[in-house]
Amino acid sequence: MDRSLQNQIEWWKAVLYSINDGVLVIDHQGIVQMVNPEYTRITGVIPEKIIGKPLRQFRPGAQLPDTLRDGKCRVGVYRKEGEHEYVVDMAPIVVHDEIIGAVSVCKSLTEVHKLSKELQKKKEKIQQLERTMDSLHQAKYTFDQIIGKDRGLKQIVHIAKRAAETHLPVLIFGESGTGKELFAQAIHNNSSRRERPFIPVNCAAIPLLLLESELFGYEEGSFTNAKKGGKMGLFELANHGTIFLDEIGDMSYDLQAKLLRVLQEGKVRRIGDTKEQDIDVRIIAATNHDLEQLVAKGRFREDLFYRLNVFRLQLPPLRERREDIPELIDSFIRSSPVNTLDGPRLVDSVEGVTLQVLQSYDWPGNVRELKNAIDYAICMADGREIDLQHLPVLIAKAKQTSPDLLRKPDSQTVREVLDEVERKLIIDTLERFGSDEKREAAKALGFSLATLYNKIKKYKLDSSKIPND
Ligand SMILES: Nc1ncnc2c1ncn2[C@@H]1O[C@H](COP(=O)(O)OP(=O)(O)O)[C@@H](O)[C@H]1O
Ligand SMILES: [Mg+2]
Repeated sequence: MDRSLQNQIEWWKAVLYSINDGVLVIDHQGIVQMVNPEYTRITGVIPEKIIGKPLRQFRPGAQLPDTLRDGKCRVGVYRKEGEHEYVVDMAPIVVHDEIIGAVSVCKSLTEVHKLSKELQKKKEKIQQLERTMDSLHQAKYTFDQIIGKDRGLKQIVHIAKRAAETHLPVLIFGESGTGKELFAQAIHNNSSRRERPFIPVNCAAIPLLLLESELFGYEEGSFTNAKKGGKMGLFELANHGTIFLDEIGDMSYDLQAKLLRVLQEGKVRRIGDTKEQDIDVRIIAATNHDLEQLVAKGRFREDLFYRLNVFRLQLPPLRERREDIPELIDSFIRSSPVNTLDGPRLVDSVEGVTLQVLQSYDWPGNVRELKNAIDYAICMADGREIDLQHLPVLIAKAKQTSPDLLRKPDSQTVREVLDEVERKLIIDTLERFGSDEKREAAKALGFSLATLYNKIKKYKLDSSKIPND
């Protein structure tokens, strides 16, 4: 054969062999002239068996001879031969208005099926991971666990339950330890979002510059030190759930504008991304600042404030609902992990005066401080009862200066109040003189020694337990 013709044939063969689809060519008589390796891979037909033979002899169902006859293209014809599954496009080869052959191009479906199966598996895996992720971000508290008979508090619980039925923002005010996060969790758990994540974010604890990237996430390469692959923001993580923005008063003015956008549009945009994503997140915000004052000072956006201030919960400090203290103490004793460390139960009550001290203390750290004090006292107690000397020193000491013992609760008679005062005076005096100096103590109290002993008995004071300091 002519050398240049030979070269040309080699060249076209190389072209056909490098195509990623299966190719089969027949001449004007329907005789197979050529198949490429991809055709063999897709259909399982080996070239030696088929080349030079009429196509129909091997493929009785083949439609390529029809294309040869009618000159019509056939597109997307489905074929299944044994385990081989593929689709074929067919076209006539036309030279000078004459059909000189036909070509079929096929794509494997086996692979498509394999890929789609793999995709399905990956989808299931993702769903499983999403469920695991949701369960990692569950809120633990419910309304049943909120203790308090205080009327103000009950009213707040009532409003919070109503809020839980909606997707509207909630704004919680209260000093540290008054139960802001507890309420946020209870609202989430009482809402239709309970199976979805509850994501708490302390806006004061995250450095100002980091907070935006934590909340909104970022795209790869959007700033130095940005993680490869970018990072998902907490809003995205909380999608379909609730985000709890604690200490919202500490959020920067710029970031407040972005938060407002989330509230108004339901969209977030990662830092460095051009596209926005739809998100559906319930926002509960909390603060112990006076937000109105921050608005007046121009440090908190007025528009954001009104947007958040739909349901407003103002939690009272513990010192304004002292009548709830005994029940709180009781519940903390029952649930304290310290109390069940070694066997079934250890401490189960608080001695009378000690309870009064606890009830009259000012609790600047509110319920959290009370809970910690009880844990501490359980640790320090020797028997079943918590006594004065088991309390943290600061609390035990504060009793002398607190005028609250003299405040008459509605339920007590004058006699009871006087008894309390007498009892407190005796304890204080015994402490001052030490339990070995009862004669001195009696003198200071204006009692005879016998009267003092009677009173000690009456008030069930175990004088040996009163410290000598
Ligand atoms: N009304 C309440 N009943 C029971 N536990 C409470 C109550 N209020 C607060 N607590 C407990 O006190 C601690 C502090 O509450 P938290 O919600 O973290 O306060 P805040 O977020 O306001 O600082 C938690 O352990 C919480 O369970
Ligand atoms: Mg908190």
